Amino acid sequence: MSDSTLHKATGKDLSRDLFLDDVVAGLTAQRKSLDPKYFYDETGSGLFGRITELPEYYITRTETEIMRAAAPDISAHCGDIRTIVEFGSGSGERSEILLSALDQASHYAPIDVSDELLQDTATVVQNAHPSIQVVPIVADFTSEILLPARLPRAWLGYFPGSTIGNFLPMAATRFLANARRMLGRHATMLIGVDLVKSVDRLEQAYDDSQGVTDAFNKNVLVRINNELGGTFDVQQFEHRAVFNKEQSRIEMHLVSKSDQFVEIDGTYRIRFRAGETIHTENSHKYTLDGFRALARQAGWSPVACWTDVNDDFSVHLLRGVAGPQHDLSDRERQ
Ligand code: SAH
Ligand code: AVI
Repeated sequence: MSDSTLHKATGKDLSRDLFLDDVVAGLTAQRKSLDPKYFYDETGSGLFGRITELPEYYITRTETEIMRAAAPDISAHCGDIRTIVEFGSGSGERSEILLSALDQASHYAPIDVSDELLQDTATVVQNAHPSIQVVPIVADFTSEILLPARLPRAWLGYFPGSTIGNFLPMAATRFLANARRMLGRHATMLIGVDLVKSVDRLEQAYDDSQGVTDAFNKNVLVRINNELGGTFDVQQFEHRAVFNKEQSRIEMHLVSKSDQFVEIDGTYRIRFRAGETIHTENSHKYTLDGFRALARQAGWSPVACWTDVNDDFSVHLLRGVAGPQHDLSDRERQ
């Protein structure tokens, strides 16, 4: 049975004011940037869905292949799991294999900033799994989220798609430490992590021949125009995706083609010089050991890991390390 109300979790809400504050702060900084969470309005989520089907974008199909092969193993490790909490659930397609594999799971709590998509996802998952209670939660997963206490334990955190790669390593550690506290004493986490590979393949995955990633990147400017009274001439910006070897990450930028001014909200006038860039996303690529070290720093113990035959992508199963500093008390949860 679905819980028809969308839970608005405590923490930052993504209101227009907050969007405006973030955009103005990002575009008036010495190095201009925008937070990648703003890619995901309805159009952006649709474009991301198309990216996952592109021949160059190996991530989604490789992760699905790994999950299918590892499902019996994952199920053996997760016999106690009753609730699956998915961070950045998007279309929810990634949860399908888990929901089918974990027979004893009775609740599914997808968390996403995109509330329309979340509602659709909840409906689709609910129809496919009528015996599961779906509890959608609209929230920014970088903030502290108090999950509804009625979700039965034990809880499994699921973070697929290598969305962890969109955090700087320090923020990734912080996210994992928060998730560890949020999920509680017997926490388990299953997380998809993209691996380092040839620069050519990486750059092609983020600059596809059909221009879908180009449109996805520029959609954030369209959103600013539509929602914040922006005057971006989108044609005056170029999509760029480059691998930064030192930081082991793909960087996406929007490069200004000319000297230009853009107004936002009728109040802010922002200058762009020709060649100046807006840094819109990082997508970090890890080694297996590099990711395990990061997980350990955040209070997790790596238990198992699955990869594809080419070692393109990895799925890690982590268990929370017991320790008072990692747990929220029952009082804090209420
Ligand atoms: N897990 C899916 C979708 C990945 S796309 C998959 O593997 O295909 C990333 C998803 O995370 C989007 O649905 C986006 O709306 C959501 N997202 C991005 N930043 C977020 C944030 N800060 N808080 C909550 N959700 C976020
Ligand atoms: C959601 N995230 C893991 C994607 C990635 O690969 O970093 C977002 C994306 N950006 C461009 N293409 C896909």
